[in-house]
This record gives sequence, C-alpha cells and structure tokens, in this order.
Amino acid sequence: MHNSLLNQLETDGYVILEEFLRPAECDELKSAGEELAKNIPDDENRAVFSTKETGKQQLKDNYFLSSNDKIRFFFEEEALDEDGKFKVDPSVSLNKVGHALHLLHPIFRCYTYSDRVKSVCHQLGFKEPAVVQSMYIYKNPRLGGEVVPHQDATYLHTEPIPPVGFWIALEDATIQNGCLWMARGSHKSGIHRRLVRNPEKDAQPALVYDRPAAVYPESSFTAVPVSKGTCILIHGNVVHKSAHNRSPTSRHAYTFHVVEKLDNQYSPDNWLQEGPAAPFLNIYTTPQIV
Ligand code: FE2
Repeated sequence: MHNSLLNQLETDGYVILEEFLRPAECDELKSAGEELAKNIPDDENRAVFSTKETGKQQLKDNYFLSSNDKIRFFFEEEALDEDGKFKVDPSVSLNKVGHALHLLHPIFRCYTYSDRVKSVCHQLGFKEPAVVQSMYIYKNPRLGGEVVPHQDATYLHTEPIPPVGFWIALEDATIQNGCLWMARGSHKSGIHRRLVRNPEKDAQPALVYDRPAAVYPESSFTAVPVSKGTCILIHGNVVHKSAHNRSPTSRHAYTFHVVEKLDNQYSPDNWLQEGPAAPFLNIYTTPQIV
C-alpha cells in the first residue's frame, strides 16, 4: 500500500486522492479564505501576481520576496486599474494569499500539519518532510487568471529529491472553472528552467529565469477535474497548468509544498528562503495547534 502512492507519483507525476477532506472541512477552509478576502488591509500593496512575463510583474516587487513569513495578498491583473484601484468588488479581486498561512493562520495550520498529511508523507517515503510555503488560490469567477505551463521545481528547487505539492480542491474544480491540466510523465525529463535570485545582489530584476520558457504541446496535457475535497499530489518536476476561469463559479483551492530535509539540498538561490519567522518545520513533529 505504501509503495502504491509513491509508485503512482513516480509513474504519472501526480496522484489524485479523492475525499482527502470532508465537505464540512472544505467549507471551514473556504470560509477562512473568504474571510481573508473580506479583510484586505486598506494600505495593502496592490501587487499584481502574474505568471506571465509581460506587464506588471511580481518579480521586481519586494512585496512578493518578503512574503515567506507573512500573509500577503496578490491580486488578479484584471481586478485593478493601472493605478492599483479596484475595478471589481475587492472580495473577488484576489488571485491568491500567501505564503505563510501554514504558520500564521490557525485553521490553515491545523489542516497542514494534520495526521492525513503526515500519513501521505510517510507513504511517499519522506524522512524529514517540511512545509515551506502555503497559498490560498481563489480562481474567482470570470477573473481567475491563467497559470501557464510550469514545473513547481522552477520556483522551488531541491536536489536530489524534488518537492511535492499538495493541492486541495475546496470546491469542485471543472474544465469550465479552471481545473488543473497535467502533462502525465513529464516529470521524467528533468527541470526545464529555474527562477533564481539575481546573482548580482540588489540588481533588477531581483529574480531571473536561467533559460527561456519551454514550449509544451497542447496534446501533452490531460484535464484533471476533481470534486471538492480531492487532494492532488504534484511531483515538483511535472508540467502542469490551469486555464483562465471564464465561468460564473469560483474554484478555490488550498495548496502547500513539502520538501525533504534529510540528505537533500534546498537551493540557496530559490526566491523562498527559510527565516527566523518562517522555519521549515518537520511535519512529523510539528503540532497542529500552537
Ligand atoms: Fe504549480
């Protein structure tokens, strides 16, 4: 049984765990996510989070780089005008909130360091698994932006053992509202590019790609619609994407990344670094409640 989860991850690059959370548990997380969206601080930097490389991008923005130990708010490109003023109701303006929900928010902490997560980590063979970041993804109706094809290891590089993403659907994720699309088996072709801290300190941009983006044929992707409560485990090297949500329904998800700490190098040029207020805590030994 232990090997089947790991084998599946190593064969396909992802694993679908249905009914990982019960509907009421999803609702609790979703309420917490909505509560965050209803309470965006007035002075909040209107940092546009975009995975595209054009226009306003987060790369130059210290707001993003220093979010490792904070709960910060990233907006949809279509939600703000050029001056950063809201073009839509602020409660549906967010792309995501990150990256320390697992440390700072009691509800997200509780689900991140849960027995179910520990059990999956055991089954995947982790010796010292640590959560390094967490995000609440809104994918709001009509506004939720596209996520272009990428590997998570581009942003979060570890070797030799790649990170694993836990992606939990808090609502049904459908083709219409922007479910994940996975390129099955693509994790076997290595890491195609990395986003690293600029080796020239204080130079702009603060983060740079080491190679141009790879081009992936549409035919390599399979839509992975899932029901509310499903967790998709994502191998750090598997190529995946999601489409713009043009539908009238949201597609909220909670996601976090786990890295192996034992005999594994966490790249010092990753954007995300461990800090005094953002320790990479061992999942097996960290209590759910502070
Ligand atoms: Fe991803």
